[in-house]
Amino acid sequence: MGHSKKQHKGSAGERFSSAGFILAAIGSAVGLGNMWKFPYITGQNGGAAFFLIFLAFLAIIGLPVLLAELTIGRGGRGDAAASFRNLSNRPFWHSIGLLLVLGSFFILTFYSVVAGWTIHYAVQSLGGELYRSADYGAVFERFTGGAMPVVWLVVVLAGTCWIVMRGVSGGIEKFNNVVIPGLFILLLLLMGYALTLPGAGAGIRFFLKPEFSELTVQSVLMALGQAFFSLSVGSGAMMTYGSYTDQRQSLGGAAIAIGSGNALYALMAGLIIFPTTFSFGIEPASGPGLVFIALPAAFSSMPFGSLFGGLFFVLLAIAALTSAVSLLEVPVAYAMNRWGRTRGKTAVAVTAACFAVALPCALSAGGVWSGVKAGGRTIFEWVDFITSNIMLPAGGLIITVFAGYVWDQAGKEAGLTAVWYRLWIVTLRYIAPVLILLIFLYSTGII
Ligand code: TRP
Repeated sequence: MGHSKKQHKGSAGERFSSAGFILAAIGSAVGLGNMWKFPYITGQNGGAAFFLIFLAFLAIIGLPVLLAELTIGRGGRGDAAASFRNLSNRPFWHSIGLLLVLGSFFILTFYSVVAGWTIHYAVQSLGGELYRSADYGAVFERFTGGAMPVVWLVVVLAGTCWIVMRGVSGGIEKFNNVVIPGLFILLLLLMGYALTLPGAGAGIRFFLKPEFSELTVQSVLMALGQAFFSLSVGSGAMMTYGSYTDQRQSLGGAAIAIGSGNALYALMAGLIIFPTTFSFGIEPASGPGLVFIALPAAFSSMPFGSLFGGLFFVLLAIAALTSAVSLLEVPVAYAMNRWGRTRGKTAVAVTAACFAVALPCALSAGGVWSGVKAGGRTIFEWVDFITSNIMLPAGGLIITVFAGYVWDQAGKEAGLTAVWYRLWIVTLRYIAPVLILLIFLYSTGII
């Protein structure tokens, strides 16, 4: 146990309260994935049929992997790499865990770019400037082509770093305790408004009435990647949060609460965005620009649109921040244990490194480097694609194998009843890894 001394300097002593842990985990799960990515990929993949597959993947793959992550984190009592080593005593698993740490780090880079966009749009909408032009595609292009995205990126990273620096209970937990309930109320208000717009019914039907003919193999992989991304599993974020929970916390109950909380927020986001876009005759399949181009057009022509739009973007920004915090905590917890520096110094160093990668992401999403492409994708799109559709499923696979085959005490740590335990272990051993592998190989054209 040569590393145990080092761990005391790191994060091993910090703890969430029981309710604080659930809120922080929901805060991690609910984010741009639910409100920016999910609506447009659902729009591109035919609507309700995609939503159903996504829900099915959440339940049969996402939840078991989420529980496995929480369990490994609490059992291993370390960061995403150390937990594996503490439970298996093999350096091999430590290196594998490093992959998860890298996954979180790289997701944070493009994620904080988009988080910055949401702050800009919140400010512009509340002030009314957003609605001065009628061509929102041009507005978005002008914005992403300028210097402001970099300014907002710095704001997002600085804010995220500040919260993480203040520690697990004094920063992360406190922040989530305030904003997650607030987020729910905002979302309810906006949903009530969106559902009563004239013509909202067409949007609801698109979102909830499945049309399976529009699905492709690629959609199935996207639904899987989205299930991982949306639940924050596959890159050690839940593992790291799990390592801060008390032994008395029921992890099975926590996984159910987090999973249903996340699905509820995705449902509510869909019930805001699709009624709004359909009500104003806008195409929902418009890609990453959906919430930044299509929605402002809708906001501009509705009563109280700038307030409604402003609140929507404020909500998006808050949800993004609570997720960014969980992403940053993964490499910070790792680096603290690895190099034994204080939380503050480590957080600043990791954030700076993140900025170095986030900057090219920002500049390639509409900016000066948006013409730099390889295989049809910009730098921004590559980082998103590789992390979401390759690293997360690979991370999920690693986690299922570890909890299902390598670590034999997983069941005890999870504290499930006999029936649930059997169900969980069968899923972890035979169902989830096989599905992940098949979908992955098939959609990448390997089989
Ligand atoms: N789940 C968040 C969202 O939906 C993003 C996120 C936070 C995440 N932490 C993560 C994604 C860890 C993957 C892994 O916006």
